Amino acid sequence: MRLVLLGPPGAGKGTQAQRLQEELKAPQIASGDLLRAAVRNKTSLGLEAKRYMDQGTLVPDELVLKLIEERLRDPDAARGFILDGFPRTLAQAEALHEMLERNGQGLDLVVALIVPEQEIIKRISGRRTCKNCGAMYHTIFDPPRNVGLCNKCNGELYQRDDDAEDTVKMRLEVYDTQTRPLLNYYQDRGLLKRIDGVGSLEDIYHRIKSAIEEVSTKGGCAQKP
Ligand code: AP5
Ligand code: MG
Repeated sequence: MRLVLLGPPGAGKGTQAQRLQEELKAPQIASGDLLRAAVRNKTSLGLEAKRYMDQGTLVPDELVLKLIEERLRDPDAARGFILDGFPRTLAQAEALHEMLERNGQGLDLVVALIVPEQEIIKRISGRRTCKNCGAMYHTIFDPPRNVGLCNKCNGELYQRDDDAEDTVKMRLEVYDTQTRPLLNYYQDRGLLKRIDGVGSLEDIYHRIKSAIEEVSTKGGCAQKP
């Protein structure tokens, strides 16, 4: 299954992608996580990307495409993947299409998580992430068993730098102008499934699974040119 999870910041893309990995036996490939790792490792790409991430604007396409193209070449992505946070611009969507087409592949499904802005703000303000394994929590909606510590590895939980209020506002604006057009792009290609992203983590997981099952029983749907 080659799946894309689309949605605004805080929509639950990462949360659901982490859960779906096991079910689909396919890795989560999150452009934000790849970029944050590059920043942590102080690579030249990471140092350049940081300027944009700190402001809540998009990292230039060529930098993101380089990371994604490399990651998609890893053996674990050969039979499928869950893209989280990528593509984010029409140019990225076109580049992804070309990357896959070169191997005679296409996307099977694009899930758009629909979540209103008020809910997004609540989610982002309470998000906590494990420094060690990247597992995600929410102080109210999905709290860890021990405050500040990861259930899975006991790692320390932290709040992302770009979750400050002004940066979140900018990320939402950027989503509206640069990423929302992808909904029509994928709708026109018969790949889009809009899913109500409000509800329990479990409910949303089942909604996405149903959409995947629908596509799988139809025998997948190849991306039209
Ligand atoms: P990125 O890391 O991709 O961030 P984002 O898209 O802004 O999305 P988030 O990770 O904030 O939200 P999410 O949808 O994953 O929600 P989550 O599951 O965590 O990008 C960061 C930056 O990197 C960008 O601003 C840009 O600079 C750069 N970048 C990344 N990709 C790029 C690209 N392709 N091109 C250019 N630049 C790029 O959930 C949020 C919280 O809500 C969690 O606490 C969770 O526990 C909670 N939650 C989840 N589901 C529910 C629910 N159903 N009910 C209640 N709470 C819930
Ligand atoms: Mg995320």
